[in-house]
Amino acid sequence: MRQHVNPLSKNFHKIEIIPPMNIIFENPELPLHIDIGSASGDFLFSLASENKNWNYLGIEIREKLVKNCRLKSLDRKIRNLYFAFGNANNIFNEPQYKFLIDYVSSISINFPDPWFKKKHYKRRVIQPALIQILSISLKKGSLIFLKTDVAELFDYMNFTILNNLSFEKLNKKDFNYSLSFNPNRIKTNREKYVIKNKLRIFERIYTKN
Ligand SMILES: C[S@@+](CC[C@H](N)C(=O)[O-])C[C@H]1O[C@@H](n2cnc3c(N)ncnc32)[C@H](O)[C@@H]1O
Repeated sequence: MRQHVNPLSKNFHKIEIIPPMNIIFENPELPLHIDIGSASGDFLFSLASENKNWNYLGIEIREKLVKNCRLKSLDRKIRNLYFAFGNANNIFNEPQYKFLIDYVSSISINFPDPWFKKKHYKRRVIQPALIQILSISLKKGSLIFLKTDVAELFDYMNFTILNNLSFEKLNKKDFNYSLSFNPNRIKTNREKYVIKNKLRIFERIYTKN
């Protein structure tokens, strides 16, 4: 089993520079979806090749995975996909990234590391500070998609998001996926594993009001 990366380690204090939108994407005016914890990037590669009317950005804390994704993306000449290395919490907090957030239509956080011990909760990716920044910077109507197979983690994240009055949950039954960043309901690697092993998935969509 892989060791989780401690996002609070000093290694992630330095923020990598992301080039301007017109360099990383062929058409910077397309709606932007950010996937936090993009891992191997398989999910985003499928999305980017199927949905040319969206731009996709993966944020991942394991540098080697990001390097591999970038090489693969260059190799395949994919121009609506970019991968950023770092702790998502620090990236969203960074003024030089403000330009990116202005383009964001939606964010997904799929099966984040659970950090089960109470003393490690602060390593979880969804933190009140992150939600506070998103509540200030995201446009009205922007969406956050959350999925996990850990009930207790779901409760923690759901509480953290709804505790911020700028977000409310959407009724998933009424949600029209065809207009979203993932019209074909592509699944992440972890989600495929969870389905194969018949584990439960806890999911929710939130909107910025
Ligand atoms: C359990 S994996 C899930 C990967 C993928 N989203 C999926 O559903 O298959 C969680 C991923 O989030 C990354 N991660 C954890 N904390 C992070 C953080 N603070 N910022 C960015 N990535 C993070 C991990 O390195 C790992 O690749």
